[in-house]
Amino acid sequence: MAVIENSKVTIVGAGSVGSSTAYAALIRGSARHVALYDIATEKVEAEVLDLAHGTQFTGSSDIIGGSDLSVVEGSHVVVITAGAKQNPGQTRIELAGVNAGIMKKMMPQLLEAAPEAIFVIVTNPCDVLTVLAQEATGLPPERIFASGTVLDTSRLRWKLAERAGVSTGSVHAYIVGEHGDTEFPLWSRATIGTVPILDWVTPAGDRMSAAELDQIAVDVRDAAYKVIQGKGATNYAIGLSSARIIEAILHDEHAVMPVSAVLRDFHGVDRVALSVPSVVSATGAHPVRETQFASHELDLFHRSAEALREVADSLRS
Ligand code: 2OP
Repeated sequence: MAVIENSKVTIVGAGSVGSSTAYAALIRGSARHVALYDIATEKVEAEVLDLAHGTQFTGSSDIIGGSDLSVVEGSHVVVITAGAKQNPGQTRIELAGVNAGIMKKMMPQLLEAAPEAIFVIVTNPCDVLTVLAQEATGLPPERIFASGTVLDTSRLRWKLAERAGVSTGSVHAYIVGEHGDTEFPLWSRATIGTVPILDWVTPAGDRMSAAELDQIAVDVRDAAYKVIQGKGATNYAIGLSSARIIEAILHDEHAVMPVSAVLRDFHGVDRVALSVPSVVSATGAHPVRETQFASHELDLFHRSAEALREVADSLRS
């Protein structure tokens, strides 16, 4: 499929995550047209104005937006960031009830406005909301997925790159599972360049121990709590992560990214959305079935799945 000409992405929600996503998409040129939609008219119009005032410096993308659903029309990609955000110390799962209600109300309207779009859910808990939205819309799983652990994987690669003395692009490691407290790294498949992570010799002349890697995994898992405690929200890194996903779709990249789509009989997991390395292209997200897990990693994967299945089941009743 060719790169989509005159591409359009609509970001739903003009809060800190949505406006940062729009900002990142404009700077990166992720789409020809970036639209920002929110029901709060004054807020979204102010965000659009503030972004538009800088477009002399952002290349060929333009920014439009407002509180009328017509803003969403013609979108090739719709990114959903609207909803309540975590308060300091609050888990993402604790947002499930209120954000599931917002999602259930919003999805039919968005699908009617952009019936051909690929939907990317960022609102938390993004994995659970993806299952509910996929069931509510009946869209094929590849067309409605979550940003998942793309952000967590970026956090992991940043920390490993710093310790290993290499660029983040040379760190081939993934966080998989829930975008949340049960996420974990696929250490068994992690390399720096072609070197297995435990064999890499750092500039200090030492190697990373399993214990050190486990601490890095904990720091990544808890990163959002630390940022939220200090500034009230996370927005820049999730905005950049979302812009990157938008590009992979609109440029039909077939890029492997750990996004979260509803899995079908995937290593024993069914009808739960979890992040696994997936091919992201103009047709959406396609989980890579050949992803290999060590036996203890498969246990962690199933534990992540069960945690999220219970939450989704509680919201269906
Ligand atoms: C994050 O991980 C809060 O899910 C958001 O930054």
